[in-house]
Amino acid sequence: MTTIALVTAISATGHDEDLPPLQSACERAGLTARALAWDDASVGWGRMGAALLRSPWDYTERLPEFMAWCERTAHAVPLLNPLPVIRWNTDKHYLADLAAVGIPVVPTEFVEPDAEPMEALQRFLAAHDAAEFVVKPAVSAGARDTQRYQRSQEFAAGNHLARLLDAGRSALLQPYLPAVDADGETALIHIDGRYSHAIRKGALLKIGDTSPLDPHAFGDIRNREPAEDERRLADQVLAAASRLLKLEQPLLYARIDLLRGADGAPRLLELELTEPSLFFAQAPEAADRLAQALLARLADGTVRTRTDIG
Ligand SMILES: Nc1ncnc2c1ncn2[C@@H]1O[C@H](COP(=O)(O)OP(=O)(O)O)[C@@H](O)[C@H]1O
Ligand SMILES: [Mg+2]
Repeated sequence: MTTIALVTAISATGHDEDLPPLQSACERAGLTARALAWDDASVGWGRMGAALLRSPWDYTERLPEFMAWCERTAHAVPLLNPLPVIRWNTDKHYLADLAAVGIPVVPTEFVEPDAEPMEALQRFLAAHDAAEFVVKPAVSAGARDTQRYQRSQEFAAGNHLARLLDAGRSALLQPYLPAVDADGETALIHIDGRYSHAIRKGALLKIGDTSPLDPHAFGDIRNREPAEDERRLADQVLAAASRLLKLEQPLLYARIDLLRGADGAPRLLELELTEPSLFFAQAPEAADRLAQALLARLADGTVRTRTDIG
């Protein structure tokens, strides 16, 4: 029987709530699934039928090491989502690619490590009249190193930005979109290219709160029926990503996170194609959808193999 690796991280062991339902769904589909950590050197990846990235959540702190693992693993076993997708999606610069093809993204200024932080911040504040703004690293997950500031907190925000740049990290500056406080964030989950379900995530950032968030905490999660404009934008985002990456197949899994802007229209906050939580607790049947889609790809041989990883 084919064994599927559900890829997590040693430091995430026991924290990925999607793993037990996915493992059961794989078994119902006739697949054996094992949760394995990407950073466990004892794993023989080549013996697996596929490696499905689920919760390698510490990659944000160890990106070169993680990408080297992805490259090696993709040569030994089909990696899902595929390597070119992971290369593109682990750095939020992909938002600029999507904006360039007309996707409405949360207004974003990118600041590169060689920039002068205070200058970059002042330029951003002059160009945006938002009462509050957000500083975040380009490679991030779980709101780590992400903070919300008022305009008057320029000094603290500049220090935060300088810390990121000094560490060689690119950063993003965004207006804080206050609609999140009342409406939360809408995350639309697509499986095998089709809409599956959506959740509402409560606002995560508090003014003046510099304590790191628990990397495994998701905040307040509820089921949500997405609005039509959100469904439409999610479809557009996936179509655009598919064109940009020249994908021949729909993405096995994708999560599109949206916030509403000052004009009330939805905007893309994040496109998660690497290790999104898929919130199976909110939609248990979605785990079966994913397992069945995986099974179908293994059966018809359309899982990308070692010769065409690009
Ligand atoms: N521009 C913004 N306006 C309002 N809230 C934001 C903004 N950017 C981030 N947040 C909050 O911070 C959280 C984490 O930011 P996000 O961009 O999703 O990065 P990641 O999840 O990759 O760390 C979001 O879920 C949201 O609650
Ligand atoms: Mg997020």
